[in-house]
Amino acid sequence: MKNFVAYNPTSVYFGKGVVNQLGEVVSKLGLKVLLIYGKGSIKKNGVYNDIQSQLKQINAKVWEYEGIKSNPIVEDVDAAAKMGIENQIDVIIAAGGGSVIDSAKIIAVCIANKSKGWDVMKNKITISGAIPLIGILTLAATGTEMNPVAVVQNHETEEKIGFGHPSMFPKHSFLDPQYTASVPANYTSYGIVDLIAHSLENYFGDGDATLTDRFVGAIIQEAIEYGPKLMNDLTNYEYRSKIMWAATNALNGVTGNGRVTGDWGVHGLGHVLSLLYDVPHGASLSIIYPAWLKFHLPLIPERIALLGKYVFNINSPEETITRFELLFKQLGSPVRLSELKIPNINNEEIIRVWIKNKAQGAYFKFKPEDYTTLLQAFE
Ligand code: NZQ
Ligand code: ZN
Repeated sequence: MKNFVAYNPTSVYFGKGVVNQLGEVVSKLGLKVLLIYGKGSIKKNGVYNDIQSQLKQINAKVWEYEGIKSNPIVEDVDAAAKMGIENQIDVIIAAGGGSVIDSAKIIAVCIANKSKGWDVMKNKITISGAIPLIGILTLAATGTEMNPVAVVQNHETEEKIGFGHPSMFPKHSFLDPQYTASVPANYTSYGIVDLIAHSLENYFGDGDATLTDRFVGAIIQEAIEYGPKLMNDLTNYEYRSKIMWAATNALNGVTGNGRVTGDWGVHGLGHVLSLLYDVPHGASLSIIYPAWLKFHLPLIPERIALLGKYVFNINSPEETITRFELLFKQLGSPVRLSELKIPNINNEEIIRVWIKNKAQGAYFKFKPEDYTTLLQAFE
């Protein structure tokens, strides 16, 4: 096992009605609140009203930044940070999925350090801290609710990158599975794919961590058991709960402890598809993961076979890859780029940006010619 530090300071409030405790939690952090959200889903499903009624009870003063887009952009980060700095806000509440909470993490750092979003993302400033962030999660997928990482796009520099810092753990996260009942089928399946992919990215990292391998197997088994059931019954509270907690645990340290790093090569490749064609994050992963596994089969057959043993109780690495591809299909997520019917898709452009961004894993590296092989395997 490699040396590691296990640290997670986020308190998670999980279950039906937990937002009833929001007012009390906010009041301990300050009464000038910046509420950040996306393009309106929280106004349709009641989440916005629940938050506002909690804030009203404590007489909080609330500023709102609305309109964070899926696959979030740095321009929104800077505009929201400006609002926060000008009004000297005490605390951020981010209500939404990964895009909203990720943006809010960088906004929290920008406000505390009076810095620009892209300088934070590119690790150009010394971070002295962040203002407290409370996440109200409405989509089970990324694990951002209990980790210190944010992923943001910059179209000017042609990058979609991740950045992490210990000050970026949400201070509190509220996870009410009821709030995810309104997530449409497509994003529900992308979220399940994402949690599986986070388990895999960690599994294929560097380091012998047998207990962590078993946790990976258990989390993916949870997704296999309850994912398809949820896809057939989207408002089922129990299935929503199982998937929500699995997604949190897939990327809060549990799947990584004992390894130096995960791999994250599939994420790197997928981020370029999101940057260029706005491909939803989870969809990029179900498209690329089977191709990545086929590509690495000759190099690490035993490691893939062990994964098959933990997840499917089978011994064949080839069959393991087939089963993952079938699982993604069964969940309703694409496994070929062509399924997305993107007009004017440009393979040369994809490969150019992959090479420019050095899209590869922390553990498994690609040579320039590998990109063509990979793309041909999933186009
Ligand atoms: O804009 P709104 O109205 O919020 O609508 C969103 C958006 O259209 C909608 N939605 C969210 N909750 C809903 C809902 N619709 C109905 N009912 C609800 N309860 O779903 C759409 C997608 O939302 P988004 O936040 O983009 O999805 P997700 O949670 O999958 O986040 C994706 C982003 O997270 C990054 C991805 O790269 C991507 O940018 N990731 C962040 C990670 C992290 N911080 O650790 C790790 C991940 O690997 C990932 O890279
Ligand atoms: Zn992901």
